Parts: sequence; structure tokens; C-alpha cells
Amino acid sequence: MSSSQTTPKHVVDMEDLRKVAQSVYARNAELVKLDKMKDEFVALASHELRTPLTIVKNYLWLALHEKDEPLGSNTTKYIDIAAETVDRLMFLVEDILTISRIENGRVTLAKEDVDMVPFVRGLVESYQVKAQEKQIRLSFESSVDSQLVTFDKNRFTQVVINILGNALKFTPVGGAVRVSVDIEDGAICMVRVSDTGPGVASDKQASLFTKFGKIDDSYANLPNVNGTGLGLYISKEIMHLHEGTLTAESVWGKGSTFIASLPITK
Ligand SMILES: Nc1ncnc2c1ncn2[C@@H]1O[C@H](COP(=O)(O)OP(=O)(O)OP(=O)(O)O)[C@@H](O)[C@H]1O
Ligand SMILES: [Mg+2]
Repeated sequence: MSSSQTTPKHVVDMEDLRKVAQSVYARNAELVKLDKMKDEFVALASHELRTPLTIVKNYLWLALHEKDEPLGSNTTKYIDIAAETVDRLMFLVEDILTISRIENGRVTLAKEDVDMVPFVRGLVESYQVKAQEKQIRLSFESSVDSQLVTFDKNRFTQVVINILGNALKFTPVGGAVRVSVDIEDGAICMVRVSDTGPGVASDKQASLFTKFGKIDDSYANLPNVNGTGLGLYISKEIMHLHEGTLTAESVWGKGSTFIASLPITK
């Protein structure tokens, strides 16, 4: 057989080549975008870490240079502030590690069947003292006596504690926070936390669930309100891992409702 009669093994189809090139370009653009997001997160995280570290450094410097002997009230105060700030820093580092684990797909859920009604009621009860301290009426209600739902207790607790903690944190003294459990179409279990707090303007609601998504003009920026703005991002990711959702409904000046929804599988 002459060589001109053999069929070439690889016929290059220009159309196929164009498709491959296109998908390589698209993938490349996606990687560049992800890399940029990672850089932004590292920059934000470093900034958030630097602020409390500077506080610790300054107060320890003051304590070291304090002339009181034995330890006077000033020195004790400086060390107290430094210790409190280190606590905050540890929570922040823990949150950053959780985000990294979630984003790398390294979080596995330890799901179990749990009766949602007593579970949420118990969490609400554990916050009564905190609510009373702030003279906030904290109530719980449920449209059913009992509802089995499958979820990771520790992770879901983190979600409820964040939205309930936020409601108590951002609602001014004398306000009210209501927590409820409801079932939608027998298929979805919804845990709602409503407050009479400052609410979130509609144009700011999109940034609620982003990393370090503190709202500029909210209570979060008052000097006595702590938080780094990672709680809702982590909570939303935890709900997605459960094939559930976390949504917000809020009216500026009136209050907010955060809804954590989980599918009922049985
Ligand atoms: N119930 C609420 N009422 C008004 N604003 C809220 C409410 N919940 C959240 N926000 C706003 O959304 C921002 C993000 O909430 P998120 O829970 O992510 O962060 P945080 O509570 O500030 O800090 P962290 O939870 O990381 O300690 C808050 O800083 C606040 O501006
Ligand atoms: Mg929070």
C-alpha cells in the first residue's frame, strides 16, 4: 500500500480545536478570578488580624511600662483588655480556618435525625439570660409539636447561634426577638429568627452573606458591638452543605428575619 492511500491517524478538526481553545481560555479566566478572590480574602483577613494584634501589643506595652508595684489597677486593666482581644482573635482565626475547610471541600457533615422543635427551643432557652440582660423579649413558637430533620447538630447549632446572636446583638434595648419553627408543604423545615432591630437597607442586603460583610451604617459599627462579618457567610455555606438555604428579609428601620431552611427527607 502506498502512503497516499493510508488514512491519517489524527485528523485535526479546526472546529474541535477551536472548542478546546475556548474551554481552556474560559477555565483560565475562572482560575484568574478565583486567584484574585483568594488574594482579596487574604488581604481582608490580614487586615482584620492586624487590628486586634495592634491592640494587644499596645496594651501589653502599657502594662510593661506601668510603674505600679505590685500590679496596680491600670496594669490589670491593660492585661484584661489584651486577654479579651486575644479571645476575639482566636474566634476570628477559627472562622478563617472554617472558611478554608469549607472552600476546600474538607468539611464532612455528621448528620443525624433530630427533633427540630425541642432542639431549637433548647437553644433559645440558653439565650434567655443574655436577652434579659439587654431587656429584649425573646420568644419561641412552633407550628408543630415535633419534626424529625436530618442534620449535623454542631454545624446547624453554629447557624442558629449566629442568626440568633446577631438578632440579640443588633436589636436595641427593649426590643423583641422571635424564633419559630414551621413546616412548608411537608417538605421543608424552616427556622425563623425575627427581630425589631435596625433592619438592613435593600441595597445593602446583597453584602450580608459575603465574607467580612459588615454593613457600614448598621449597629455592627458601634464601638460596643463585636463581630468580624464572617458569621453569615459561614452559616450560608453550612446550609448549602445540607442542601438547605439561608435567606434574609429585612426592612430598614423596622427589623430583620433570617430563615434557615432544611429539606425534610422522611
Ligand atoms: N439581625 C440583624 N439586624 C441588622 N443587621 C444585621 C443583622 N444580622 C446581621 N446584620 C448585618 O450583617 C453583618 C454580617 O453579619 P455576620 O453575622 O456575618 O457578622 P457579624 O455578626 O458582624 O460578625 P461575626 O458573626 O463574624 O462575629 C453584620 O455585621 C450586620 O451589619
Ligand atoms: Mg454574626
